[in-house]
Amino acid sequence: MLVLRKVSQIISISAFLCVSIAAGAQTSAKAVDAEGHQWWQHAVFYEIYPRSFADSNNDGVGDLKGITSKLDYLKDLGVDAIWISPCFPSPQVDFGYDVSDYEDIDPMYGSLTDFDTMATEAKRRGIHIILDFVVNHSSDQHKWFLDSKSSRTAAHRDWYIWRDGKGPNQPPNNWTSIFGGSSWKLDPTTNQYYYHMFYAAQPDLNWRNPAVKDAMFDVTRWWYKRGVSGFRLDAVDTLFEDPQLRDNPVLPGKNAFGDPHEESKYNQKLPEVHDVLRGLRKVADEHNAVLIGETWTADIAELNKYYGEGNNELQLPMDFLFTKVDKLSPAEFRKQIAAVNSASGWPTFVISNHDIVRSYDRYGDGQHNDQIAKLMAGLYLTLRGTPIMYYGEEIGMKTTPPTRKEDVKDPIGKTGWPKEKGRDGERTPMQWDESDNAGFSQASPWLPVPPTYKTHNVADESKDPESVLSFYKKVLKLRHTNKALLDGNYTPVNENDQNVLSYLRAYKDQVVLVALNMSGAEQKVSFEMSKHGFSTAKSLAATGKSSVSGEVVTIEPYGVFIGQLTK
Ligand code: GLC
Repeated sequence: MLVLRKVSQIISISAFLCVSIAAGAQTSAKAVDAEGHQWWQHAVFYEIYPRSFADSNNDGVGDLKGITSKLDYLKDLGVDAIWISPCFPSPQVDFGYDVSDYEDIDPMYGSLTDFDTMATEAKRRGIHIILDFVVNHSSDQHKWFLDSKSSRTAAHRDWYIWRDGKGPNQPPNNWTSIFGGSSWKLDPTTNQYYYHMFYAAQPDLNWRNPAVKDAMFDVTRWWYKRGVSGFRLDAVDTLFEDPQLRDNPVLPGKNAFGDPHEESKYNQKLPEVHDVLRGLRKVADEHNAVLIGETWTADIAELNKYYGEGNNELQLPMDFLFTKVDKLSPAEFRKQIAAVNSASGWPTFVISNHDIVRSYDRYGDGQHNDQIAKLMAGLYLTLRGTPIMYYGEEIGMKTTPPTRKEDVKDPIGKTGWPKEKGRDGERTPMQWDESDNAGFSQASPWLPVPPTYKTHNVADESKDPESVLSFYKKVLKLRHTNKALLDGNYTPVNENDQNVLSYLRAYKDQVVLVALNMSGAEQKVSFEMSKHGFSTAKSLAATGKSSVSGEVVTIEPYGVFIGQLTK
């Protein structure tokens, strides 16, 4: 038994060496290593919001050629797979999450030829491409919907959800849209309502119609043939609705849009979604592809449902439980890590994305944000599981929401202002260098570049060994080369420590210690390593002055120490 001792405290921890074979490994013919791990279990994923990553044609909006031009940067950073938020033809009401053609590229982002070039160049560098598949709804400009709304007997009528109102000016039920107001819109052509969980310009597809299922499954085949390695499935929770359209129970209070809170009993997480996921997974398996889910699960029981029985649904349902830890609390993180480790599938860790405030600001205290950004990297990039990064996180990009309503671009920010300012703040242009527009574009960008680009940008941080970027690179390199970090199991240590979150990653006789100081004061932690034949740890990555001497690790405020136990 290894004992970890904080200077003031001695706490026993459970044995770990006897269980040091990689837990949770899945066997498969396509496994890439002796542990049965598959490519997506070893890969580091990176979300690109294409409007904001790199603008090659200087129109103020990012594009595919821009992404291609940055593949070397991504490779050097340590990224193995890029998830590109929707780049398909779209009226851009929800900035691409309203797709009007699932099998093409929006001219704003380039062409299919540009996509093919990007795919070839990515493959050359060993980078997989993951597309964002908007499964719940299409755009109201999609040819399927245009036909559907044209008459009650149209060929595609039943591809969407149409109903009569309850009475004059009364929608079929009380369901409200996630983006505000009723989720039903009356269409005058046929005098029936159609259902939209998001904007009215995003009508929900009717997944109870087998023709919809076939068409959507074919879309995935079409992209797999073009070299795509998987999909991030958008809004899967909302795929099905109660066939009887029963009213949702109303809860006390109102949301930012002024709508009454409701329990989404009849229009979210219906069991039928799992049939669809099993089907999509079958197709994915034929292509050695991965399915990532936008799954807003409330607990591990819900997360397990998305893995499916025997892991036959999503390989990587996103664990947003982690993003709900809104303070630097070792106890809270320990709880969430333990929970996700107890789940029935391989863990996925996410700390930021295009819909939520960046982790830089969620955890940052305004004074030590860079240290805290490194702390978060030290945490989620060293856990057992697949991390999904968000562009700009690696340079410490700050969430920069608009300060005036008239500057808001995201429609929910317009309708919800000032309570809901929208998601522009986490979607600002990537900060490449100190030049005008942060090197993102020579034209004025679609969203303003945050003032922090002068201090936080790729060019400057690449030269600074103490930068957030340099730390990310160091940890990502370790993650790819250190067997314990790649395949080892996870064992928490010193579970009562209120300041330092510590754990071991152990693979056979290789043991890595990760110690994360979540407090603003220096911490000294002592480990009784000798009991297990180790005498100290060799530092692999540490921030600032954090270091080890014999069995004592000293970690600076908000510091990280990662070390390999040695004899
Ligand atoms: C998902 C996307 C979000 C989008 C919504 C509707 O939640 O992440 O950006 O607005 O789906 O498609």
